[in-house]
Formats: sequence, C-alpha cells, structure tokens
Amino acid sequence: MTSGIEKRKADHIEIATKEQVNTVRSSGFDDIQMVHLALPEVNRAEIDLSIDLFGKKMRAPIIIESMTGGTDVAEKINGILATGAENNGLAMGVGSQRAAIEKPELQYTYKIVRKNAPNALIFANIGCPQLIGGYGMKEVKTAIEMIDADAIYIHLNALQESVQVEGETDFLGVLVQIRDIAQSVGIPVLAKETGAGIGKEVAIALEKAGVSGIDVSGVGGTTWSGVEYYRAKEKNSRLQMRLGETFWDWGIPTVACIVEVGASTKVKLIASGGVRNGLHVAKSLALGADVAGFARPALEAAVNGIEPLEEKLTQTIEELRTAVFLTGSKDLSGLKNAPLVISGESLQWLTQRGFDIQHFAKRKGQTKG
Ligand SMILES: Cc1cc2nc3c(=O)[nH]c(=O)nc-3n(C[C@H](O)[C@H](O)[C@H](O)COP(=O)(O)O)c2cc1C
Repeated sequence: MTSGIEKRKADHIEIATKEQVNTVRSSGFDDIQMVHLALPEVNRAEIDLSIDLFGKKMRAPIIIESMTGGTDVAEKINGILATGAENNGLAMGVGSQRAAIEKPELQYTYKIVRKNAPNALIFANIGCPQLIGGYGMKEVKTAIEMIDADAIYIHLNALQESVQVEGETDFLGVLVQIRDIAQSVGIPVLAKETGAGIGKEVAIALEKAGVSGIDVSGVGGTTWSGVEYYRAKEKNSRLQMRLGETFWDWGIPTVACIVEVGASTKVKLIASGGVRNGLHVAKSLALGADVAGFARPALEAAVNGIEPLEEKLTQTIEELRTAVFLTGSKDLSGLKNAPLVISGESLQWLTQRGFDIQHFAKRKGQTKG
C-alpha cells in the first residue's frame, strides 16, 4: 500500500518538473563578474578540474544534489542520476531516506545509486525533523549502509516544514542531535539547507558541532515554499497556500551564503541553490566554495533519460573549463584566486552584514601565485 511519504515523494517530482517553482529573487550570481584575461597563457585542453573530496577523487567539482527515492519512478531517476555521476566522475546525493528507513521494502529505490555508481562520492540523506522525531544512530547507520555512502547530509528544511500541510516544525534540540551524530558516526557529516540558505551564525554553530561540511543551498533556485504551495493548492489548504506565497522568496541568496560561510568557517563548502551552469560553478569556487551542486536541472534532464542528463553535465563541465581558461587559471586553485567584481544586492547584503568587500577582494588578489 502506498504510504503518505511515498505519495509526497511522487508529488515533489511531479511539481518540480511541471510547475514554476523557482524563486523570483536572484541567487546573486549575476552580481559577480570574473575578470577576463585576454592573454590566459594556459592550454585549455590541459586544464585540470579534478578535486579530492571526502576520500574520493572527482573529475570535476560538481554534485548532483539530493532529490529522490521511495517510489518506482524515483528508482528510475536515481539510477539515471547515478549513471551520469559515475560516467563523469561527479558526486551525487540521494533524497531523504526516511521512506526506506520506515519501509525497508523501498530500499531498492536508493540502492540503485551505489549499483550504478560504484566509484562515485555518494551522500546519504536524513532530515532534521526525523532527528527530533526519534531517529538516532541506528537509523543514521541504516541510511549509510543502504547505499554504502561516503558521507551523509543532514538536511535543514524549516521553511519547507512550515509551509507543508503535514509539516513537522519542532526543531528544538536539533543542533545537539547533529553534534552527537557528527561525533560518532565515523564518516563525514554535512549540514545542508534546501533552498533558504545558511548564514554565518548557523555556519559557526554547525562547525562547533563538528560537521565536516556545509551545503548552503541558498535562495535563487528551487523554492520549497513554491513546491509545498502547489501541494497545499491540491489539498485546498488556504492557510498553507498563503504561507507558501508569502515566503516564496524567503532566505539568504546563494552568493551571500558562500561568502558568509566561507569567511566564517573552515569546513568544506558546497555552493548550491540556483546553480544553473558551469559559469555559476566557477563563480562559486572563486567566491570560496570547494564544490558546487544543482538539483532541479538534473531532475528535469533525467526524467527524459540518460542522454539529456549527459548533455547537461557535459555542458556544465565545459562551461566551467571555459571560465577557468578565460581567467588564466590552470586548475581550480588558480580559479579560487581569480579576481572578482561584486555589485548589486550581493554587495549591499555583504556590506550590511559586516563583510569588508575591499579586504575580501584584496586578500584574494594577494594569495595569487
Ligand atoms: C524534487 C526535489 C526533491 C528534493 N528532495 C530533497 C531531499 O530529500 N533532501 C534534501 O536534502 N534536499 C532535497 N531537495 C533540495 C535540493 O537538494 C536542493 O537543495 C534545492 O533544490 C536547491 O537546488 P536547485 O536550485 O539546484 O534545485 C530536493 C529538490 C528537488 C527539486
């Protein structure tokens, strides 16, 4: 029998691929300009995009972000996403594994990921509300073992739970739970937002709690207020619809998150939320991220099969390579030091939040070479 969770997972895929669920507000990537170098003195064909992350080698710093599992359709999509990750040397996260923790017969919808991507860096996934709702080390270990994960994401989704008709909004004590897991699970634990972003205050608290990485997932891409708005509409829940509309754009834009978290912590930094091409990946890295990821664009491609997904991944990698080349960088450490010009809302945000942009720009310039 189909459970509430399975129906919800199916709704999420359906809504994310058929409705307009992007924020109106921008991620901030348009506020960031990289400086073109007319004499790059680099052979584009020899540019190395590889990185080592959590014990795995990646051929390019790109993650197919956590999305799905728990239904037959999700199994098919996970299989395609995993094949794309494996073929291109990228990383991938599975969606929340709650469905299969509560109903083990659904494990196959996640296991396909390790089957199709035996070598890729794979992230397990559980949510904050489940940690409060009684999940402990046993469930976390089940999630990890299910897909032989290299690391685990704990997703923070207070906004989504607030708008969701069945939302679970008790987040009291969640940081202590994250700390306990980070200290004893034995693989890297990362905290991940789901589209509303992570700022410096939360990043500092998470680093103290012992997380190995933060995936900012900021404003500028998929809005979970939006996704849950459409579910509320179907259920005729006027209050939840209203909440979805009012908080459609709530959160911290991705560019602001990258600078805030990068400047305040030393954990691995993943840029996501509105990352839509390889130039966005390049800008993320130049701002201080170690790796970048995207969710919905991968889903939109994968629902049409492996070829569209391969095309999307190749485009993104080649766009990134082009940005590396045109900034005169040989590899990603060169890109990290490429000069940037920051304007618009991102500049305003960061200035008001106490970041000295001149200093930031100078520090980057100084580390060059
Ligand atoms: C259909 C769908 C399902 C998602 N499910 C999860 C999930 O289970 N766990 C999670 O951490 N994030 C989940 N996300 C959030 C993404 O990982 C990502 O943080 C967010 O969509 C922003 O990235 P984007 O703008 O590239 O889509 C989901 C996203 C989509 C589109």
